[in-house]
Amino acid sequence: MPQQLVFATNNPSKIAEIQRQLGKRYTFRSLKDIGCTEAIPETADTLEGNARLKARHVFDNYKSDCFSEDTGLEVYALNHAPGVGTAHYAGPHRSAEDNNMKLLSELGDRKDRLACFRTVICLLQGGQEHFFEGKCEGRIATFPTGQGGFGYDPIFIPTEGDGRSFGQMTQDEKIRFSHRARAMAQLEAYLRTLQDAGHPTV
Ligand code: IMP
Repeated sequence: MPQQLVFATNNPSKIAEIQRQLGKRYTFRSLKDIGCTEAIPETADTLEGNARLKARHVFDNYKSDCFSEDTGLEVYALNHAPGVGTAHYAGPHRSAEDNNMKLLSELGDRKDRLACFRTVICLLQGGQEHFFEGKCEGRIATFPTGQGGFGYDPIFIPTEGDGRSFGQMTQDEKIRFSHRARAMAQLEAYLRTLQDAGHPTV
């Protein structure tokens, strides 16, 4: 019987990815599923800080253990921008297409296009915070490709892959390399050690 975890997000693409990765052992309840419809401010200046804000909001207002995550794309030639500002790089409207176009335009025809996706998960259990991080190194393409994934996937080519962008990969292929899948694998390993030791988990 899968265990239920509250994932403090309303991003259906993130939920679909982790359901695909861990769906045999867990089912995930979104913010909407727990009745949280208000926007949670993401005002911290680090991924860790924003992940904590989202998890704390749920824990404090909905009295539920949960986990949240925040993801940033760090482009080395741009001093690690957009980083914590990844979601609204092209403005507050959070348009994936505009964000991609802005990043391509900032990079122009630079040869150095190396970048890293970083996901930080904050697990809140009985008020205690636990953090997990996953990274995926890659490079920014010169133009978008593929119909899969979301966000910056059409312009991100993981180093460990075969030259295709995340946007060109199936969900299973993306999960093999992705920052989020790696952070989730660590979260799962932690929950497993708790279960094996007979402790209740979220
Ligand atoms: P947030 O963590 O939901 O705030 O997302 C930050 C930004 O990164 C948003 O623009 C997302 O669309 C983008 N993003 C998050 N995860 C991924 C991913 O796995 N692939 C591509 N873009 C992503």
